[in-house]
Amino acid sequence: MKASDTKATLSFSNGGQPVDLPIYKGTLGPDVIDIRKLYAQTGMFTYDPGFMSTASCESAITYIDGDKGELLYRGYPIEQLATNCDFLETCHLLLYGELPNAGQKAKFTDTVTHHTMVNEQMQFFLRGFRRDAHPMAIMTGLVGALSAFYHDSTDITNPKHREIAAVRLIAKMPTLVAMAYKYTVGQPYMYPRNDLSYAGNFLHMMFATPCEEYKVSPVLERALDRIFILHADHEQNASTSTVRLCGSSGTNPFAAIAAGVACLWGPAHGGANEAALNMLYDIQKAGGVDKIGEFIKQVKDKNSNVKLMGFGHRVYKNYDPRAKLMQETCREVLGELGLENDPLFKLAMALEKIALEDEYFVSRKLYPNVDFYSGIVQRAIGIPVPLFTAIFALARTVGWIAQLNEMIGDPDYKIGRPRQLFEGSPKRDVKPISAR
Ligand code: SDX
Repeated sequence: MKASDTKATLSFSNGGQPVDLPIYKGTLGPDVIDIRKLYAQTGMFTYDPGFMSTASCESAITYIDGDKGELLYRGYPIEQLATNCDFLETCHLLLYGELPNAGQKAKFTDTVTHHTMVNEQMQFFLRGFRRDAHPMAIMTGLVGALSAFYHDSTDITNPKHREIAAVRLIAKMPTLVAMAYKYTVGQPYMYPRNDLSYAGNFLHMMFATPCEEYKVSPVLERALDRIFILHADHEQNASTSTVRLCGSSGTNPFAAIAAGVACLWGPAHGGANEAALNMLYDIQKAGGVDKIGEFIKQVKDKNSNVKLMGFGHRVYKNYDPRAKLMQETCREVLGELGLENDPLFKLAMALEKIALEDEYFVSRKLYPNVDFYSGIVQRAIGIPVPLFTAIFALARTVGWIAQLNEMIGDPDYKIGRPRQLFEGSPKRDVKPISAR
């Protein structure tokens, strides 16, 4: 970041001393006002619940222009990455800052491939869960449990250790998600296969059984790879901020990523893809397209607490570019599977059309986000609805670990410790119980 030639001056109506605050410029996006000395100079905090106007860090990884509906990973537009690269190239880009050349890609792919197995002991953690446990409950446990196997060899101050922890997490997430799935359907776990691609291996571990040869469909493999690319990183969203804050205490990367998994689970965040599909199912069950009007009316009624899941975004006040690419993938996969007349896809497109013409959504700049179509694609691929967010976590792991390593790699980073506006009781004395 570089200092801007303008500064911000904070003046006080009560005659308090004005304070000059430096302004910094980044490469893209809004400038920032540096308030680090504000408390020392004024004895006051800023107040910004939900961090609507707060930059928590400087980062060089991902940039979103919410008004233009633009998403860049290390400067490359998501549309170009989703079309010209695969997920492991994107992982290399997010982790190291550059797309790999052929030799680097082969080496990185080989390294990830040879870390896809998990310790055999991991399967005993699963046995503690009920078979109908939500996959995200299982994943929160399994990812945290990884620190039991690697914690002593992961010195986060050592860049080499940080790099191997990143590779281990990227490599093992598909294995763990597939194990969580197999456990819920009572089928044996399938070991990873080193001759398959990252997405192909995941499909194999999910849907193959020891009883017969499983053939990976190139169309589903490509669709899944694109879903991973679209979900890989997204600036300082709730789960990434959770990973950064958790990691800022110096805990090991596996524990920090487990915190990210837990945060992503929420329906306002990564849980929205599961919620969006269930919303479409509910509208379909109630009568389909003819019931959309009634549903939209419910959404507009504040007391209903019903939201149009898969719509709206804290940053995008235009179409989420990932939603466009996801809709395209939807068409491709449904077309390939002969499901172009899939009633749920048609219902989703009808719902989107009606919403985008409705003043309530237009005035609030609510557009479809990445979660609106991703559920339909995943369902077409055969992924059960409760597993959607686990797939999101699988893909976002590279973003979380890249952001965590960026923070820890900065020698000036500090433990995160926000302050508050206290509105509780002033100091008072405890009375003996007889006098309470
Ligand atoms: C992800 O941050 C990221 O980058 C996240 C993510 C990533 O890749 O990491 O992009 C992934 O989490 C995508 C978002 C998935 N969530 C959903 O689809 C759930 C539905 N969306 C909403 O919950 C909401 O839009 C949020 C949480 C996504 C954004 O909420 P904000 O920015 O806090 O906006 P808001 O709730 O203040 O909404 C502004 C207005 C409100 O109405 P008013 O009070 O002004 O009258 O819009 C309304 C909201 O009630 N509104 C919606 C709505 N989203 C916002 N009304 C109906 N349906 C919706 N979906």
